[in-house]
Amino acid sequence: MEDLLIGVIGSGGRGGLARYAHRPGEGSRVVACCDVDRSVFERNMAWYGQDVFTTVDYRELLERDLDAVFVTTPDYLHEEHAVAALQSRKAVYLEKPMAITISGCDRILRAAKENSATLYVGHNMRHFAVILKMKELIDSGAIGQVKVAWCRHFVSYGGDAYFKDWHADRTLSTGLLLQKGAHDIDVLHWLCGGYTETVTAMGGLTLYDQVTDRHDPRERGNARFVQSNWPPLTQTGMNPVLDVEDVSMMLMRLDNGVLASYQQCHYAPDAWRNYTVIGTEGRIENLGDGIGEDSCVRLWNVRRDGYSAKGDETFPLSHETGGHGGGDPSIVAEFLRYVREGGEIKTSPVAARYSVAAGCMATASLRNGSAPYPVPPLDEDLLAYFG
Ligand SMILES: NC(=O)c1ccc[n+]([C@@H]2O[C@H](COP(=O)([O-])OP(=O)(O)OC[C@H]3O[C@@H](n4cnc5c(N)ncnc54)[C@H](O)[C@@H]3O)[C@@H](O)[C@H]2O)c1
Repeated sequence: MEDLLIGVIGSGGRGGLARYAHRPGEGSRVVACCDVDRSVFERNMAWYGQDVFTTVDYRELLERDLDAVFVTTPDYLHEEHAVAALQSRKAVYLEKPMAITISGCDRILRAAKENSATLYVGHNMRHFAVILKMKELIDSGAIGQVKVAWCRHFVSYGGDAYFKDWHADRTLSTGLLLQKGAHDIDVLHWLCGGYTETVTAMGGLTLYDQVTDRHDPRERGNARFVQSNWPPLTQTGMNPVLDVEDVSMMLMRLDNGVLASYQQCHYAPDAWRNYTVIGTEGRIENLGDGIGEDSCVRLWNVRRDGYSAKGDETFPLSHETGGHGGGDPSIVAEFLRYVREGGEIKTSPVAARYSVAAGCMATASLRNGSAPYPVPPLDEDLLAYFG
């Protein structure tokens, strides 16, 4: 078996994910890296060998003989980089969110269709043990027919990770309801078996606007998690443009009648997601989400007049090694298998598009008096092709 030859556009930052694809002699190896920050190449050579091709121009990377490309650049570049890679007929692993606009997503889908190129969107939460356990319980009928799903998202690292660089600028991210929420909207769609048809949302920039210390616009902000940046109002070095919400709350009506909600706060002291899904015969909820701590999913399916903390059944979560509790090695392995052999995959380009579409329309709603907005459906031909 010859190794698949892999390229990475945006080989610093999240681009480190491609290390899981570097298995020389075992099926795949990273042979080309692109980043506008040349200092990244030293790390790339340490990971992939001194002979790895490096460039600051993604078009040079795409001219090379590659089987697949990881696009791990910032969100506002996904459309340009993914479309170009698909047009050069490389298989593409595209980080979430697929793009920062609905039209951007649809352009990417069209490029994949027109060039018969493989598109895989990196919604790694579909590989998290906590989500897989909830999906398994729902599919087994443990809570009957799903009717309602709620997600509360606590983001302790928000002030560091999302308010010191491009994430904080709505022209580059649309907003954090899309940027971060794309994961959870996708998970809600997956667990509930439908796509959002109508959204309404409320939110605001409620805390970080009070932090006046900004970094020089010519410099890159330090978006690394620093334990001592607490409480949040003591943060410094924020992005010069800071106009995204730090609290967002959205309500969704899905096309199968399920009602869902998602709440996100970027100055919580802890970092995890709490999902609960209620069906016609019970409720499941995760306590902890399995990243860095002991966590479980609990089932309540016996009627009682009050609360039982231990529920009716508890499902501990396995702890795998590797990024995001094992989700990252698992999703990269699935992508490589899909490029080589095709077959079933847990993620879906159509679902990725619908998570962006719901996130974009919810962002429009929260910025326009919480007006309800319909989510534009995907063109029939694209739906049929990817369906
Ligand atoms: N699925 C996940 O769990 C997860 C986790 C983190 C980030 N992400 C996603 O990964 C993407 C990158 O996030 P990040 O935090 O690493 O961002 P980042 O700002 O660190 O950028 C990633 C890399 O892209 C490079 N880059 C920027 N512009 C470029 C260009 N024009 N050409 C080539 N390289 C360029 C940067 O120098 C950097 O090395 C985002 O879309 C983000 O949503 C996903």
